[in-house]
Amino acid sequence: MTTLVNLFPIQLHIKNLKDENLLSTDFDIEINKILNEISEDRKLETATGEYSTTIRSYDDIINIPSMSKFKSYMRNHMKQAWADIGYEECGIAIERSWINRFQKGSRLAGHAHGSTEMVMTYYHNVTEGAASISFFNPFDRQTGMAPFKNKVFTYTPKAGDLLAWPGFLWHEVTTHQIDQSRVAISMNVHQGSYTLTDRWVRVD
Ligand SMILES: [Fe+2]
Repeated sequence: MTTLVNLFPIQLHIKNLKDENLLSTDFDIEINKILNEISEDRKLETATGEYSTTIRSYDDIINIPSMSKFKSYMRNHMKQAWADIGYEECGIAIERSWINRFQKGSRLAGHAHGSTEMVMTYYHNVTEGAASISFFNPFDRQTGMAPFKNKVFTYTPKAGDLLAWPGFLWHEVTTHQIDQSRVAISMNVHQGSYTLTDRWVRVD
């Protein structure tokens, strides 16, 4: 008998939350107002920036009033995700949360999230033909990787999907080619207690 052990698996968590109704119409009103108030200069800056042509708002977006239900759900989901891969009960800290609105032609070139332990992205507005996200195998070009040969994994999100993946994993969003915008909320999540009140925002 052969025993197979995945020594260092890289996991992508996928869950559809459409039926949870985490974000009300108040959220759409609030977030559209925030995104529409981004100055033309800022839009231009993001349009020609390092890797983004999206309209984005940072400022820990998860703390706006219409996201309170979403925020508590995310906290519990992340705790469970960590429990599923063998971690004990722990505190959850969201370092930063932001929203990206992709217009026709927007894209996000390849990047990772540095020392972030887990990245979560929730797809709020996604219609047929919206841009997909690709994750790249960190073992690419490494020889002797027979079980892990896939170079890239591409996922086309559906409305209500929540993805979670480790922050070191390189990923990109292909060019958005349809007129309907694509709205995604992303969070950098850490495990444990963070007391740097100027920087860390605890969900609980
Ligand atoms: Fe990212």
